[in-house]
Amino acid sequence: MSTAAIPTLTLGPRTHVLVLTGAGVSAESGVPTFRDAGGLWEGHRFEDVASPDAFRRDPLLVWRFYSRRRANMEGITPNPAHRALAALEARLGDRFLLATQNVDGLHSVAGNQRVLELHGALMMTRCSSCDRPPFEDRTVYRDGVAPMCGRCDATGKAALLRPHIVWFGEPLDGAHFEAIDRFMTAAAGDLVFLAIGTSGVVSPASWLVDDAARAGAATWLSNAEPPANAHHFAHAVMGKAGEILPTMLAA
Ligand code: OAD
Repeated sequence: MSTAAIPTLTLGPRTHVLVLTGAGVSAESGVPTFRDAGGLWEGHRFEDVASPDAFRRDPLLVWRFYSRRRANMEGITPNPAHRALAALEARLGDRFLLATQNVDGLHSVAGNQRVLELHGALMMTRCSSCDRPPFEDRTVYRDGVAPMCGRCDATGKAALLRPHIVWFGEPLDGAHFEAIDRFMTAAAGDLVFLAIGTSGVVSPASWLVDDAARAGAATWLSNAEPPANAHHFAHAVMGKAGEILPTMLAA
């Protein structure tokens, strides 16, 4: 798509913008998406390594999967799509909210502050048993044994550490959806919903477009190819996020 064909979003002085991002927004930074390359890792479907069952069966395999993803973040930086979203938040302040399915942290690195990480954070770890708060952890666990929670060990109940990721079959943080509801209510019908780089197959994120439409939003999609829920959007702009967003979100 040529730049001339990319529409610029028109925002009024009270317009609220709710953005949902997926793996496609980080693709041009060099972070692989899930479904574009067949969704396999070492021959495993990623659903099979991103689940509580997989962790019970083989915690080291799961840690190797997330360790590889941690290691692959070395040298990865935000791309123009992330930067355009950070510039939009700088303009809109509290009238901006970003819900991301990505765990790579690149929106925060780009400068976004109003970010809800719906699926967790790659560089965080928590205990699989106790209520010790999640902590920053960039460790790459390569081989040997899966890491243990030092706090539980001290009480004599050995428990494994786990990635701070929402796995398939696990509930998302209800507080995130309460924040999204409050944001949509505050918009009072003057709302733009923009989904970027997501295949629209993983709920509840894929349902947000319908919630936003019910709240009166103009619904926009920016994606490399039509996602599964494309027909739920009123407007679509096809192409690479890093090429589209700087124009689409220009002041
Ligand atoms: P997917 O890999 O399912 O989809 C990525 C989407 O981005 C596809 O629709 C691509 O066409 C599009 N895309 C690729 N490159 C692009 C680019 N440069 N610009 C714009 N779009 C591009 O990723 P998600 O929809 O994010 O969950 O996947 C949702 C969830 O499924 C993930 O958060 C993850 C996975 O299981 C968990 O790990 C819990």
